[in-house]
Amino acid sequence: TAGAEKWVPRDGGMRKVRATLGDCRGCELWEDAERAVAGEGPVRSRMMLVGETPGDHEDKEGHVFVGPAGRLLDRALEEAGIDRSDVYLTNAVKHFRFERDGKRRIHKTPSAGQITACHPWLARELELVKPALVVIMGAVAARSLLGPSFKVTQHRGEKVELADGGTAIATVHPSAVVRSQDFTRDLGLFVDDLRAAVALLD
Ligand code: URA
Ligand code: SF4
Repeated sequence: TAGAEKWVPRDGGMRKVRATLGDCRGCELWEDAERAVAGEGPVRSRMMLVGETPGDHEDKEGHVFVGPAGRLLDRALEEAGIDRSDVYLTNAVKHFRFERDGKRRIHKTPSAGQITACHPWLARELELVKPALVVIMGAVAARSLLGPSFKVTQHRGEKVELADGGTAIATVHPSAVVRSQDFTRDLGLFVDDLRAAVALLD
């Protein structure tokens, strides 16, 4: 398929985006997922955080960042002095990608084609929110917003410019911190990046 473009409303606001997202057939991921998971938070947020895809919990509950990665993100936001209810939180890809292992559904990283296919939804959210700063969390969000050659590990915490002229900062995905062998250090580095994001807003 040719991507999400033809399902993304050109008029209306976030309410319309949320109402139409579930109809998207821009890639094959809608077939096995329970639902598309829309971004959440005030449309006038100054900060937008972009993750990867909904996980198992998000797919079942229909909300972004409610599973283990979400708990880690909540903790890091709090440590950085950011109120989750003040930021717009979304994902680069709106449907859960997984592999079945018996009854378990194991997260799979979305493909380059799926990231490209879903980009029009993220682009529309950016148009509507017009955030002063985008926090790019992990390689999938970075690929969607900065292209395939950007390396999060090399450029985390640095200010970068988006194609639409907006300002962004990249960091790791919170699930990388959840899985870290050096949890305390990696949580600290993630919080440092979030603090750097706050400093860019001031
Ligand atoms: N990981 C993400 O990137 N987004 C979610 O909503 C949950 C986990
Ligand atoms: Fe559409 Fe994105 Fe879902 Fe693919 S993942 S069907 S492009 S909303």
